[in-house]
Amino acid sequence: PPRVLSGIQPTADSFHLGNYLGALRQWVSMQDTHDAFYCVVDLHAITVEHDPALLRRRTKVAVAQLLAMGLDPERATVFVQSHVPEHAELAWVLGCLTGFGEAQRMTQFKDKSSKQGTGGTSVGLFTYPVLQAADILLYSPDPTVEGGRALRVPVGEDQRQHLELTRTLAQRFNHRFGETFVLPDAHIPEGAAKITDLQEPDAKMSKSASSPQGIIDVLEEPGPMRKKIMRAVTDTGSEVVYDEEKKAGVTNLLRIFSALEGTSVPDLEGRYAGSGYGQFKKDLAQVVLDTFTPIRERTLKLLDDEERLDRVLALGAERASGVATATMETVRERVGFVGRG
Ligand code: TYM
Repeated sequence: PPRVLSGIQPTADSFHLGNYLGALRQWVSMQDTHDAFYCVVDLHAITVEHDPALLRRRTKVAVAQLLAMGLDPERATVFVQSHVPEHAELAWVLGCLTGFGEAQRMTQFKDKSSKQGTGGTSVGLFTYPVLQAADILLYSPDPTVEGGRALRVPVGEDQRQHLELTRTLAQRFNHRFGETFVLPDAHIPEGAAKITDLQEPDAKMSKSASSPQGIIDVLEEPGPMRKKIMRAVTDTGSEVVYDEEKKAGVTNLLRIFSALEGTSVPDLEGRYAGSGYGQFKKDLAQVVLDTFTPIRERTLKLLDDEERLDRVLALGAERASGVATATMETVRERVGFVGRG
């Protein structure tokens, strides 16, 4: 089967609706059709100031949520990035192939660095996309094998530029040192590639930038979750109609509804023709609750069984290491490092 690799940062107490629709839902479905590797990227989480105890806790909660969403540690390799030191090692090599200006053009770096407070921007934040490229390329299948297996990366729209850089670096490495990496393909969902903030429907729903009212957390209690959806910003009209320009709020809610229920946007527009925003939001809130309540309950149960989580991570680290060490051996040899003998 083709391979899939993706990652998520443990930088909040809960994943949010954007993470779920943009990426995580695809992670779950792709475990059935792909050789799957999914990574909680704690090295990325320290590119901005962090609290160690909180990071440790959030990494566990992240893993529990992934399992609660349906990732099966027997079918998919679920692991923590720092358990596989080859990620950092390959990042160094790829960093030496990355132009300074090339890294400077990353829009996510520009956004995030402009928001850094008194501590200022770290070099780690600057080289963040290079580490992401390493995460992906470490799991590249052998490109010289007949029929060349694919490497797919399910992510939201905001990761497109990082995926482009990853392809560029893979190509550059192959060109200089010989065919080593398959060029990865971004796998971006059509309707849910960019879920927006409920209060600022022109901005991305984001754990770092959105206000609590603008975000729906996967682990949110039902009461507040319902309230946030009922209070989502719409417009002065009353028609449930898809219009990105004039009705960004309603359009975002339609996309969420459509993705979660599996109903097309035109069908939803038909269902709510003439009924106003109230009923529409009420039904949407129910759909969101129906999706996240079981996930929340399973996550809490999993967090009670720390030993099981540790076992899952030990197994994941072992499987991921198997692939990563083999790739890294090839890389070292191609780059010209002398073997230890
Ligand atoms: P992160 O942790 O910010 O987000 C995890 C995933 O959620 C997607 N996403 C969204 N999708 C739709 N609408 C939104 N509002 C929204 N917000 C977030 C992101 O696109 C992402 O897929 N750099 C990555 C983590 C990473 C990674 C990797 C991804 C590290 N190494 C290797 C893939 C492969 C990130 O910051 O994701």
